Amino acid sequence: MDELTGELALVTGGSRGIGLGIAGALAEGGARVAVVGRDGERARSAAAALPGAGHHGFACDVADGDQVTALAAAVDEAMGGVSILVNNAGVTRDTLLLRMKDEDWDQVMDVNLRGAFLVTRAFSRGMMKRRAGVILNISSVVGLSGNAGQTNYAASKAGLLGFTRSLARELASRNIRCNAIAPGYIETDMTGALDEKQTAALMERIPMGRLGTPEDIAGVARFLAGPAARYITGQVFAVDGGMVM
Ligand code: NAI
Repeated sequence: MDELTGELALVTGGSRGIGLGIAGALAEGGARVAVVGRDGERARSAAAALPGAGHHGFACDVADGDQVTALAAAVDEAMGGVSILVNNAGVTRDTLLLRMKDEDWDQVMDVNLRGAFLVTRAFSRGMMKRRAGVILNISSVVGLSGNAGQTNYAASKAGLLGFTRSLARELASRNIRCNAIAPGYIETDMTGALDEKQTAALMERIPMGRLGTPEDIAGVARFLAGPAARYITGQVFAVDGGMVM
């Protein structure tokens, strides 16, 4: 099935982990993909390895407004108008509140929340003109449940949900849908390797009894980006093996 043929998707943080999984699923659906990462070389090689043709990689720090403006011009020139935007880039700086430095707070907000704002503002203009588009924000179940040691991260991910719902209301009349995915515990560089004790403790909290993979998230992203989800906007989809319900 190639339901995304003719679409141009942009995935931030798309050169590894969940972002790479989403880029792969959208490419399998027939979309051309712009892979965005801080390291241009990695983004370009990730794009080159995606199924299908016409993908490109771009260097951009999503927290930097000038770089985002330059990215929008570069993508437009090289590939055309983006119709599917996935705000996936994210970082953690975990520590207990009393130990949290200003930079820990600011860095997480700058990438996870301000980055999504800057990129969405830059690319939604074209979607509004064309009166079509899909925006997916990658939040987290900790944005719903909270998590000790992650006040900065959970606040940024809960913020993304308010952003998603407001944007959905703002853009629905222009035929632009905006939804969020809240992944549970997914095995990537961000989560790193767990020891046996940590894995056992985590398993007790996951009814489905296994950790998630980027592909578990990617399938939902592909569904939400495509025509089967055409009447869905402003929603949050927890993809977490039942961890938060
Ligand atoms: P990861 O660390 O493997 O990948 C994150 C990607 O974002 C990397 O490619 C990184 O280079 C990029 N990135 C970071 N800062 C950036 C910036 N300023 N500008 C551009 N790109 C930047 O992490 P993972 O696990 O793939 O996470 C992807 C998203 O999913 C993140 O938003 C994360 O918060 C979210 N998430 C992850 C979960 C997990 O268990 N791994 C659970 C819930 C949410």
